[in-house]
Amino acid sequence: MAQITTGVRAILSSPRAYDFTQNLVGAERSRKRLVRDYLRPQAGQRLLDIGCGTARILSHLPDGIAYTGVDLSERYIQAARQEYGSRGDFACVDVGRTDSDRYRGFDLALATGLLHHLDDDEAKRMLATARDALRPGGRLVTIDPCFADGQSALARYVIERDRGRNVRTAEGYAQLARDVFADVRVDVRSDMLRIPYTHTILDCRR
Ligand SMILES: C[S@@+](CC[C@H](N)C(=O)[O-])C[C@H]1O[C@@H](n2cnc3c(N)ncnc32)[C@H](O)[C@@H]1O
Repeated sequence: MAQITTGVRAILSSPRAYDFTQNLVGAERSRKRLVRDYLRPQAGQRLLDIGCGTARILSHLPDGIAYTGVDLSERYIQAARQEYGSRGDFACVDVGRTDSDRYRGFDLALATGLLHHLDDDEAKRMLATARDALRPGGRLVTIDPCFADGQSALARYVIERDRGRNVRTAEGYAQLARDVFADVRVDVRSDMLRIPYTHTILDCRR
């Protein structure tokens, strides 16, 4: 995994510090928009959240979603269990390495802020894991920071300093997904956070 965990960014390994900084930049608003505009979950569906962090997305999901969250960080998974224990299953998993067939038959998969932490090989394994976890017709939604022509200098400055070392252009993310999914829709948005920022959102159908 290509992620900077030294210096000031080491603080973000703490679940509380991570959630605090996310709140400051407006991540709750971003999660709400992602759920409303792209994920569109319905009660009774099964959702696999890959790189779930502290599973804050659960605050924006309707009741009746069967939620499974997986993340590399034991500390984040523990925080997710403490906050949402009864609302989901949580497991510590490295999706860049796993060949696990534990996950099958999901209606939806989600990877928020994960692809830009993974190199191309890890990303392809993660995308294949997500595809195999989905039922036919199921969808994977991803959102990551991106580089884009014409984006604000401040957005680029902030994104260049992200912990993830594999920030790509929208086309870079899409190309990875097209190697694994036949149907990939791509959106670029600059209105998801409270600060200048540019995101690529992929909607990939199995
Ligand atoms: C930017 S955070 C996003 C967390 C959460 N999805 C959210 O939106 O708040 C990226 C997450 O991906 C996790 N992660 C990075 N590489 C991973 C891997 N190889 N397998 C599983 N999780 C990973 C990190 O531990 C971290 O929780």
